[in-house]
Order: sequence, then C-alpha cells, then structure tokens
Amino acid sequence: MINLWRVTMSVPQVDEKRLWDSHLEMAKIGATSGGGVGRLALTDLDRDARNLFITWAKSAELSVKVDQMGNIFARRKGKKPNLPPVMTGSHLDTQPLGGRFDGAYGVLAGLEVMRAMNDASFVTNAPLEVVVWTDEEGARFAAGCMGVSVFTGEKKLEDALACQDIQGASIGEELKRIGFNGSQSCGGYPVRAYFEAHIEQGPILENEEKTIGIVKGAQGQRCFRVHVVGDEGHAGTLPMDQRKDAFQAAARMAVAIDQLAFNLIPKSVITIGAVNVLPNSRNTVPGGTVFSIDSRSPNDKVLSDLELSMRQICRDIAKDRNVSMRFESISYTPPIEFDEKCISEIEMAARNRQIGYMNIYSGAGHDACHMSTIVPTGMIFVPCKDGVSHNERESAEPKDLAEGCSVLLDVMTSFAG
Ligand code: HGY
Ligand code: MN
Ligand code: MN
Repeated sequence: MINLWRVTMSVPQVDEKRLWDSHLEMAKIGATSGGGVGRLALTDLDRDARNLFITWAKSAELSVKVDQMGNIFARRKGKKPNLPPVMTGSHLDTQPLGGRFDGAYGVLAGLEVMRAMNDASFVTNAPLEVVVWTDEEGARFAAGCMGVSVFTGEKKLEDALACQDIQGASIGEELKRIGFNGSQSCGGYPVRAYFEAHIEQGPILENEEKTIGIVKGAQGQRCFRVHVVGDEGHAGTLPMDQRKDAFQAAARMAVAIDQLAFNLIPKSVITIGAVNVLPNSRNTVPGGTVFSIDSRSPNDKVLSDLELSMRQICRDIAKDRNVSMRFESISYTPPIEFDEKCISEIEMAARNRQIGYMNIYSGAGHDACHMSTIVPTGMIFVPCKDGVSHNERESAEPKDLAEGCSVLLDVMTSFAG
C-alpha cells in the first residue's frame, strides 16, 4: 500500500473582522465630525495614513519601497523572485469631505490578501505587491491620478512634481516635506497584472442585490480650469452697467455648461465643483473668478464635442459681459476597457465562491484606468450604501468588503501561479 502523502497546504482565508478593523483604524486619520474622512494628498494626514500602512506592511513581512512620485510598493516574496509581480492597490488620499472606503478599501484589501497568505504559509510563484498611489483624487492638485500617471509614462515626472495646489505648494515640495520623495525610479518595470478592489460609488450593485461588480471599463473624462478676468470696483459706487464683474460672468457660464449635460442625459455628466472668487470681499466687485470643470462620458466623441461647446459658451458670455477668459485644459483620460482575461478570472472566482456578481461599468475614474494602458488590468467592485461616495455618509458592509477581498485573493493567486 503506497502511502499517499497528502500535502496539506492550508488555503488562505480572508479575515473579515481584521479587514474591517483595519478600515476603522485607518479612518481615524483625518476623521471628520460628520463620520467621514478628510485626508488631502500629501498633507500631514496623508503622511500619517501612509506611515500606518507601512507599519502594517512591515509587520506582514512585506518589503517596502517608495518611488520618486511617493508611490509606495509593499512586496511579498514569491518562489521565483525575478518574475514580474502581480499588483493590487489603490489610494489613501481622499476628498475634503470624503468617505472611509473610497481608495482605502483597495489598499487594505490588498494588505489583507497578504496577511491571509501569511496565516496559511501560502507562497505564490510570482511576487505580489500592494501599491499606494499618490494623489488619486485630484482634490488638492488639480489633475488627479498623478502617481500612477507617471508610473505608466502618461505624465513626465518633472511635470507632475511641478504641479501646484491653490496655495502654490508643488507636489515635489510636499513629497519632500512629508518624507515621501522616494529614490526608486517611477515606473518602467514589468508587471504581470494589476487588480484594484473598490467600492462602486454608485447604486447599481445594491439595487441589483449583487456583491461583486466585474468592471468591464470606465468612462472617459476631460477636466478644465476657466480663468475669468474682469475688474475690481467699489460695491457702492460702481454703476451696474459699468461693471466688469468676473463672478457674474462665471456664474452664467456655469449655468449654461450645466444645461449642456442635462441636454445629453444620460450620456454625460459635468461638475463645477471648485470656484475661487477674487478678491473674495463682500464690498468689492469681483475682478477675477477661476472655476473647475469635470466632464465625463463613456463616449469619447461626446467628450470632445462637449469641450467645443463649453469653450464657445465661455467665449460668448465673456464677450457679452465685457470680461476676458482663458479656458485651460487640465487632464484627459479616455474611456477604457479592462482586460478580458482579468475579467473572466474575476467572474470565475466569484462563481466558484458562489457570490452574486454582475458586469458593470465605472462612472468614477481610478488608478486602474491608467494601469490598464500598460498591463492586463481588472477591477472588482463591491456595493456601498445608497451608492453614496465623495460624501461623509459613504458606507459599506464588512461581509461585502470581505467577499470582494476573497475574489481579489483568488485572481491574484491565479495570475501569480
Ligand atoms: O473622480 C473620480 O472619479 C475618483 O473618485 N477620484
Ligand atoms: Mn477612488
Ligand atoms: Mn474618489
């Protein structure tokens, strides 16, 4: 009788409570009074969140590197260290009044995959990496996805480092100030595949009662900044018909631009979220106004047609209101489709675990959209309550987060061999 030695290698199991507790701990950094998180890119709070992640990564025996854009790479060794890594990750920076899960989930789910593999003494062939990308949100430094865009080669390092916030602080200076101006060059090394777990930031999964969203692609976006220049004047003495009121001109531009999106519903969305009135004094006629435009559509042609229409609107109103106007392009991310093999692996993992799933399209932009331009990329969505995000009320269920993380573990294992 030949002894059939069964080699029992225990199977990694995601620990739902550990994953949930990590979110609660991370959410303490930048916690807002409304129950959300405000952790703008490269602030002291972002630094603290990064350092907490690094502490956790090191205690999970991951080796940590930081590149010149401040992207953090926590690597788990594989049996064949020279194989390109299978990567996962997301971002720790948030909106000013953001939620506890946007970005953090992708980072902490990646960390939980490593922790679960450690518990099971499970080793993949290829190394694995969890990445924290710099400035995904673009709430402080206009364009967003700055760290990943340099990694993929879409943006030059020097241009990204020179990008400034509204106070004139640059990404390069802020990386240095918080101690994350890493030495590793940004990008340029082979990656086997990239997977990102993220809350849906919309209501579809919840409405359809599905836990896993297999993301087929993401809509494109064009972002702009409009500079309107009039002339300051005394609120009491300057007659209405002699004013060059930059805010009144900008306000009319904003209303007309908003109407454009309503005419195209549901093909596009346009948001004017940041407005600066200068000199911002009650009794001075505004001489300047700068406002942001975030336009998105799954259809690239609609995106470029929108730009032409918005430029025309601003030119016409500037002329009519006797002010000058500069329409500045800030960023462009085309609509993308994710990798078919990644998509089918995510579907197989969800099916094998008998977790309800559906195909879905992302209205939000993600680091994964940029990674998809250089490596096979897939995204795993899980529901968030009422589809609310970029809002302090953002919320998710521990069970959904854990199930999404289990699917992430499976697809990373499958690609890492
Ligand atoms: O704007 C976005 O879509 C992303 O959430 N930063
Ligand atoms: Mn995000
Ligand atoms: Mn976001």
